[in-house]
Amino acid sequence: MTALDTPTGDTTDLRFPSGFRWGTATAAYQIEGAATEDGRTPSIWDTFSRTPGKVHNGDTGDIAADHYHRMSEDVALMRRLGVTDYRFSVAWPRVQPTGRGPAVQKGLDFYRRLVDELLDAGIRPVATLYHWDLPQELENAGGWPERETALRFAEYAAVTADALGDRVRTWTTLNEPWCAAFLGYGNGVHAPGRTSPLDSLRAAHHFNLAHGLAVRALRDALPPASEVSLTLNLHALRPLTQSPADLDAVRRIDAVANRIFLDPVFRGRLPQDLVRDTAAITDWSFVRDGDLAAASAPIDSLGINYYSPTVVAAGRSESPSPWAGAERHVRFLPAPGPRTAMDWPVDADGLYELLTRLRDDLPGVPLMVTENGAAYHDYTDPSGRVHDPERVAYLHGHLTAVHRAIGDGADVRGYFLWSLLDNFEWAHGYSKRFGIVHVDFATQRRTPKDSAGWYAQVIARNAVEGHRNG
Ligand code: FCB
Repeated sequence: MTALDTPTGDTTDLRFPSGFRWGTATAAYQIEGAATEDGRTPSIWDTFSRTPGKVHNGDTGDIAADHYHRMSEDVALMRRLGVTDYRFSVAWPRVQPTGRGPAVQKGLDFYRRLVDELLDAGIRPVATLYHWDLPQELENAGGWPERETALRFAEYAAVTADALGDRVRTWTTLNEPWCAAFLGYGNGVHAPGRTSPLDSLRAAHHFNLAHGLAVRALRDALPPASEVSLTLNLHALRPLTQSPADLDAVRRIDAVANRIFLDPVFRGRLPQDLVRDTAAITDWSFVRDGDLAAASAPIDSLGINYYSPTVVAAGRSESPSPWAGAERHVRFLPAPGPRTAMDWPVDADGLYELLTRLRDDLPGVPLMVTENGAAYHDYTDPSGRVHDPERVAYLHGHLTAVHRAIGDGADVRGYFLWSLLDNFEWAHGYSKRFGIVHVDFATQRRTPKDSAGWYAQVIARNAVEGHRNG
C-alpha cells in the first residue's frame, strides 16, 4: 500500500495521484477509413495492404472503423467513459498529400472538428504526428532511410502545429519508431515491406533526427505551455539465465531496440556498442555533424507503449530479421504464462520493470503509458453484450503494475488504453480486436464491451481495486 490508497472492506483501492491522465488511444490509419476523401493520397500502408500476401485476408484501411464519418459518435463514447485525454494521430497524407508544401485545409478541418468536439466534451486532445502513415510519394523518393524525409517531417510538424496549436496542448512527434524502422525496413512485416538491415539503421537514425527537428519546429509554432513528447515501444528484456552469454544477448537487443532511440534523444549520442555490433553493416557515416545535438532537443515527457516482455538468450535466430545482425547472436524465447489473441504473453511485471528502469535512467523525465491493452476473441452474445473478462484482468494487472511503479518513485503522469475501438491491426487486418468498444465492421455498429464499463469506473474512482494483503 502507498499513502494514496484507501482500504474499503476486503479490498484496498489502489488510488492514482490526483490529476492522473486517463485516456484511450487510436491511430489514423487504423480507424479513419475515408482513404481517398478530401484530398488524402495513399500512404505506405495503403500500398502495402494492397500488396498480395502482406496483410491478413487482404484487409485494408479503406473503410476501417469509418471514424472519419463517425467521429462525433466516437467522441460521445469517450465522454461517457469519462476519459480525461484522447490520444489520436494526424494522417500526414491528409495534411500534405505529397509530403511537402502547403497544408490541405480540408484535411486539417477534420482534425480541427475533432479537437473542438473533444474540448467541448472536456477531453484533452493528445496529437501524435506520425503513426506510420508516410505519404507514398516520400517512400517513392527513398522513405525513412533518406535524410530528406526527416526534413519533410519537420515541415509537416510545423504546418500541423500552426493549424491546431491553439487548441492542442500535448504533442507527440513519433509513435514507435522501432516498429516503423525495423519492421518496415528490416524484416518487412510492416509497410513499406523492405528487408535491408542497412535501411533499417538509416531509418532509425532519420527518425531520431526527424523527432528532434520536429521538436524544434513545434516549439517555434506552439504556445509556451505546450508539452512535446515522443512515444517509444521500449522492450522489457529478460535474460534466459544470468550467464554472461545470455546477458550479452540482452545487451545487444537493448542497444538495437531501446538505446538506439534513448541515447540520441536523451543524451545526444549513439550507443557505442551498437556502432561496434553493426560495423559489418555500416560505419554510420549517414549521421552528420549536428544530427545528434538536434535529436536531443529537450522534451517534456516520454511515452511508453507496453504489451509484453521479451526473453532472450545467446544463440541464433532466423533471417530476415528486424535486429540488424543481432539475430546471429541471439535467440528469442516465449515468456511463460497465459497469452492474448496475438499470442503475446500476459506479464504485467514487464511494465513495472520498464517504468522503474526509466525512473533510474532518466531522472526528471515524466513518463506516460501511451499504449497498453490486449486483443481477445471478442464477440457480441445473443443479448448484444460483449463479455471480455480476460481483457479486464489484463488491464487490472497492468494498472496495478503502474500503480506499484508510481509507489516506487516512477513519475508516471497518465495511462492511455489501447484501444478505444476495434480497428485495423496492421498486418493482422481486422482479425485482432484490441478495442474496449466492439465494432461490427459490416454495420459499423459500436458496442461497448464489459471492459469499457470497468474502465469508466476506474477513471471515476481514480483507482483500481487491489487486494488488501496481496
Ligand atoms: C502498437 C501500435 C498500435 C497497435 C498496438 C497493438 O505497436 O503502436 O498501433 O497496433 O501495437
